[in-house]
Amino acid sequence: MQAKKITLCNFRNIKSAEISFHPEINVLCGDNAQGKTNLLEALYFASIGKSFRGQHIGELISFGEKQAFVSLDYKSGEREQSISLCLSNNRTKEVQKNRVKIGRMSEIVGSFRTVLFCPEHLSLIKDGPAERRQFLDIAISAADPLYLAALQRYHRVLKQRNALIKAAEKDRTMFDATVEIWSRQLSHEAAFIARSRDRYVKKAIEVVKRCFADMTGSREIPDLLYMGVGGKEYGDYEDLKKTEELLFQKLSLHHERELGAGATLWGTHKDDIEVTLNEKSARSFCSQGQQRSLALALKIAEGELCALDCGEYPVLLFDDVLSELDRGRREYLLGHIKGKQVIMTTCEKEGFTADHLILVKNGTYETVGKSESFT
Ligand SMILES: Nc1ncnc2c1ncn2[C@@H]1O[C@H](COP(=O)(O)OP(=O)(O)OP(=O)(O)O)[C@@H](O)[C@H]1O
Ligand SMILES: [Mg+2]
Repeated sequence: MQAKKITLCNFRNIKSAEISFHPEINVLCGDNAQGKTNLLEALYFASIGKSFRGQHIGELISFGEKQAFVSLDYKSGEREQSISLCLSNNRTKEVQKNRVKIGRMSEIVGSFRTVLFCPEHLSLIKDGPAERRQFLDIAISAADPLYLAALQRYHRVLKQRNALIKAAEKDRTMFDATVEIWSRQLSHEAAFIARSRDRYVKKAIEVVKRCFADMTGSREIPDLLYMGVGGKEYGDYEDLKKTEELLFQKLSLHHERELGAGATLWGTHKDDIEVTLNEKSARSFCSQGQQRSLALALKIAEGELCALDCGEYPVLLFDDVLSELDRGRREYLLGHIKGKQVIMTTCEKEGFTADHLILVKNGTYETVGKSESFT
């Protein structure tokens, strides 16, 4: 996968810009608040139709403007492709792929594939399970449209089931009459989601372990464990019927607890990944640098698994990735990205080579070409 050119209009602080990328290392360099992350955000938006900062599409439109445009030319395999988006009134108004209008934003997911690493990804290790579930959902959805569809159905059923539980506060008749149907549907979708997540975590751990062995000379040994509806010890996610039955039983046995809590208490919306380093909880015991390394290793795994799946490496979008990494870890990372397309941001001039150095100032982008040692 290779980003070739992006054209932007009224996107955050970027009034108008056309930026071409090198097939390998592109470095966006500039002071704080100039528009480095905004450019990565635009690329990411063209990739999955969502921002990684904030929920509202309206925030992406320049202050005082009504519409924003993003148009990306990229190469997938040997094919030249394009995605263009028009944003307005807090929604994506029009989406085109290869100049043909498409109905839903979710149809572009999986077209221009990227792996984003930004400082917020430290929350993958230090925050609650929602961040880790989101990591799995984005990574698996890009590779498997069936997963995305199951996830969308699951959340629709969950919403209905929660509404039923809420309504039962006043009158239980409807709840008693229909809860089993909703529990069955929820369990059915959950079993498929759980199997995909379990498979993904098992593949990711191999890459994460390899990264750490290279980065730390095997001093630090990470582990990941999927904690789904069956808990830590459950080893049967491959058996869809068994997982479905397990969840259905849990849901059926605890109606009173759910009615007391006012929500569905079991299901894949409660899943987590346990992350450990040298057998200790990463969340509680890791240093900042170790947490960053773990988040980065998860992202490297996302890239490698994506490459295995679609036959080419995704574009790496690295926002401020090098800070807090010691020399060994930096060298590992810079070695790892060789030969891949990476678009990365930095405020400081670091000691590495950029094939394409782009100076960012107040929403403008000036390509100054190759920087030999970038010091
Ligand atoms: N909708 C918007 N319209 C206009 N400007 C915006 C909008 N949203 C954000 N900005 C501005 O864009 C500027 C650049 O933001 P960006 O996050 O890209 O900075 P950056 O270069 O990554 O800086 P840092 O090095 O601090 O991370 C900020 O000053 C911000 O106020
Ligand atoms: Mg930034």
